[in-house]
Amino acid sequence: MSPPPPAPASSVAPAAAAEVAPWIRARVGDVGRPTAGLPPVRGGDHLPGEAGLVTGLRNLRAWMHTGVDFMRARVEHYGPVFRLPVGPIATVAVADPEAIERILRNDDRAWSAALGWRVFFDGIDPTRATADSPASFDFEPHKDIRRLLQPGFSAAALAGYVEQAGAVIAPTIDGWLAARRVTFKPAARRMFATIADRVFLGVEDPDEAALLDRTMQAFWRGSIAVAKHPWLSPTWRRATRAYAELRDRLRGQVDARRRGDAGDLFSRVCRAAPAIGWVDDDTLVACYLGLMAAAFDTTACAVTSMAYLLATHPPWQERLRAEALALGPGPLVAEQLKQLELCDRAWRETLRRFPVAPDVPRRPLRDVEVAGHAIPAGAMVLALTAPLQLDPAVWTEPRAFDPDRFAPGRAEDRRRRGAYLPFGAGAHACIGAQLASLEAKAFWHALLSRARIRLAHPYHARHELSPLGSVSGDVELIVEPA
Ligand code: HEM
Repeated sequence: MSPPPPAPASSVAPAAAAEVAPWIRARVGDVGRPTAGLPPVRGGDHLPGEAGLVTGLRNLRAWMHTGVDFMRARVEHYGPVFRLPVGPIATVAVADPEAIERILRNDDRAWSAALGWRVFFDGIDPTRATADSPASFDFEPHKDIRRLLQPGFSAAALAGYVEQAGAVIAPTIDGWLAARRVTFKPAARRMFATIADRVFLGVEDPDEAALLDRTMQAFWRGSIAVAKHPWLSPTWRRATRAYAELRDRLRGQVDARRRGDAGDLFSRVCRAAPAIGWVDDDTLVACYLGLMAAAFDTTACAVTSMAYLLATHPPWQERLRAEALALGPGPLVAEQLKQLELCDRAWRETLRRFPVAPDVPRRPLRDVEVAGHAIPAGAMVLALTAPLQLDPAVWTEPRAFDPDRFAPGRAEDRRRRGAYLPFGAGAHACIGAQLASLEAKAFWHALLSRARIRLAHPYHARHELSPLGSVSGDVELIVEPA
């Protein structure tokens, strides 16, 4: 494969104020928008933990299969900072809440999200040297990208998306009620792909939704391909092809969307882009693809886990049903959804117990100290947020499903800073957290005001990663009209 061309010249203010190890700057250029990834860095040998490719491959398998339980066991064994090979990648895992919060807030500008995320997606678009997704910028360029995306998340925009989601949710539930049954995991994926097609692209064609579903699944699976090379890995090949297909389709639409006045997120972002001079249309499309990837599968995973938890905790299902019925028939508008307080607690508890994004990658731009341990510049650091959500020192009976731990009187999430960060923190904190929660509530209000659910074949679920986190199994449900 020929090397990608250099990044286009840009007038963006470089992230000059960050103190950066000279070898990193020489290799990647402006750390605000790196033009290359970093090689693996040695130097964590003084830390407790494990090393080696064979251990890494074994860990990757266990990581995927048992998700947060694997991570929690490692943290209990090695402590808050340790070496953790995952597949071919030697990482330094950090599981100290205060340290994670400091890393994500990045007040000392010591940490790069861009170089962390590049490890998983470098080369997904071989035509570009920069890996332009929102998480692949830092500092000043990243602020511009957030400014670009923000109009798509205004209160008015969110209200419009909720309405569109409602128009997909109601007929989907009709179908489940008619069949009295649904295999929830794939059905939720399809439903959220259909919603995403409308909200993100303004498209109402079911075939397009299926394509988006396939594309995004291939994209995410690419992140865990052991060999990121099209000849060596069919998974990576599928990921790069899927990415190119969607990229070319969106790229061909930018002009028309800019001229129109459509309310979908992509059209809004296309109209906003010219205000940020250095963002050309290729960068715009790359960022938008990154946003979609961060958006739709995440919400589907979380709602699937919540389906399992409500199906296996009937008293909580009844409480949410009573709350839904008290608000009247749907579809509800965004302001009404905010009143679903019990549903909100159950949603937050689901994200605690079955975290969707269980870790956040970062690389230090210079030698740093984390929780008393020296970490060399450029090391691959995984901030393990998920195992903190099962820490018995913070949470009462951490493995129990107990949404009331988020009730104002208990507020267990406030017991220790940094112990509950399902949507991250700092400049890269999730831009879609509110949308995800509104969509989830719109869905649960619509379903529970018309039905009760239970597992068709009861089973004890694990947390697993695909690589996003959710409950194991297909969550096959009996849907009883009520
Ligand atoms: C349950 C659902 C979701 C979860 C658990 C989740 C979680 C996260 C987390 C942990 C991050 C921080 C990554 C980092 O610091 O490197 C993040 C970033 C992001 N999320 Fe979400 N997310 C969800 C839904 C969404 C939705 C619905 C959207 C868009 C509509 C979205 C768009 C993004 C974007 C664009 C970023 C990158 C932000 C940046 O780098 O500035 N997410 N998300």
